[in-house]
Amino acid sequence: MDKKRILILDTTLRDGEQAPGFSMNMSEKLEIAEMLEALGVDVIEAGFPASSEEDMAAVTEIAKRVSSGVAALARAREDDILRAAEALQFAKKPRLHVFIATSKIHMVHKLHMDENEILAAVSRSVSFARSLCPEVEFSCEDATRSDLAYLKKVVSAAVEAGASIINLPDTVGYATPTETYGIYKSVMGDTDPGGKILFSTHCHNDLGMAVANSVAAVAAGARQVECTLCGIGERAGNASLEEVVMALRTRNDFYKAETGIQTKLLYPACRKLSSVVGISTPPNKPIIGVNAFAHEAGIHQHGILSNRQTYEIISPEDVGIPKNDMVLGKHSGRHAFEQRLSELGIRMDREELDEAFEMFKLVAERKKAVTDKDLHAIAGEKRRAIGKGFRLIRFIVNSGNTIPAMASVKLERDGEETEDSCMGSGPIDAAFKTVDRIVRHTKGYGNLSYSLEDYSINSVTEGEDALGEVLIKLRCDGEVYTGRGLSTDILEASLKAYINGVNKLLTI
Ligand code: KIV
Ligand code: ZN
Repeated sequence: MDKKRILILDTTLRDGEQAPGFSMNMSEKLEIAEMLEALGVDVIEAGFPASSEEDMAAVTEIAKRVSSGVAALARAREDDILRAAEALQFAKKPRLHVFIATSKIHMVHKLHMDENEILAAVSRSVSFARSLCPEVEFSCEDATRSDLAYLKKVVSAAVEAGASIINLPDTVGYATPTETYGIYKSVMGDTDPGGKILFSTHCHNDLGMAVANSVAAVAAGARQVECTLCGIGERAGNASLEEVVMALRTRNDFYKAETGIQTKLLYPACRKLSSVVGISTPPNKPIIGVNAFAHEAGIHQHGILSNRQTYEIISPEDVGIPKNDMVLGKHSGRHAFEQRLSELGIRMDREELDEAFEMFKLVAERKKAVTDKDLHAIAGEKRRAIGKGFRLIRFIVNSGNTIPAMASVKLERDGEETEDSCMGSGPIDAAFKTVDRIVRHTKGYGNLSYSLEDYSINSVTEGEDALGEVLIKLRCDGEVYTGRGLSTDILEASLKAYINGVNKLLTI
């Protein structure tokens, strides 16, 4: 039997980005969109244009930039559909994605519409969307809690009105894999016996079953999976792209399905997203967690040494996890550095390379072995750091359990250096408060108000000289800004992350 080609619709920039704490600015969205294109996703759902000017601009820009399919979301309303069509005008492969809820609870309590009114809205909106865009996807929001007979009526109405892709979302992450399989079999069998329609799945992870439900839908015949990098999204998130793709690939014997994803880019793509939105990956996260390929128990190590397949069903190289062998050191020159970056598929312009090389030299001075993981981190650091704003010149922090913590920090901005000092409840608090003082003493920022919402630190590699990566989140005017800093010194990494976050909120 031939393998089915499963389309991957990535909704990191729509369903992922709309969840609290994952917002991105335009240049971050473009960076992620380019990564998604390189990864080989078939459709990038770039935003919900009617929801905000930012989403409108993001869909428009992404549509100009990439050649993958680009989808824009719209409610089943004329004004939403017009906005989405306008945002898609430059897309090479545009897709207008219309949705309306079909479950009783949503119809009664959210939409205040009855079944017939919803059916009429579906026909009207899909045919309007179809008049503006050659490809229309229709989603029955909360499909898995909808009455099955009614769901089939809605699907038939959407198909009749011109939708060629039908999505049955598990909007609240309520379904089980067995139910999901049954719903797809039943809806597809009754509404599309000829198999002309492309059925899609879109699962949320409230009960931790988003990936299981997505692949159950594929087993039943769905040919598109909607998912997000690292599973980011509303509440507990969406099905995670890397897990869906590797489940289909690893259990190809069962699903007989393949995607067009370049699996070697999965790890770099997830790392990029994590650093952009400021999330740290749990160590046991499938595919990308640091423990996903670690074998600790003696009996496991023994097995792995004689044959990796005893305890490893995926090879780390297949998902692009960099090896942790020493690749460069303090005597490595610029040529070796650039060559290794290019072997790792990391592309940078001259200015970024200059800064990354400077950072590499600093790291190599402090760290015996610079590994591929370090290089990935350095590349991420430099890309985030570029841009105007404050720059750390030097800092001194005094702290102990019998003295108050005291920090002195010198920053530079537009060629002007400012030094200040402050006490705090600990070394990091003192250092951050000093940065705040300097920022507030800068002309124009006297009334600036923001607060630290999250702080986390992870080590990039093992060992006492490992690079530490700090991620922080700052809240300002209801928006969250992430900052990232990297150093073998955790105070320096923390200050760099904080300054990076402050620079972002000042420039957006
Ligand atoms: O979860 C959901 O139902 C959605 C739809 C708008 C596709 O995100
Ligand atoms: Zn969703």
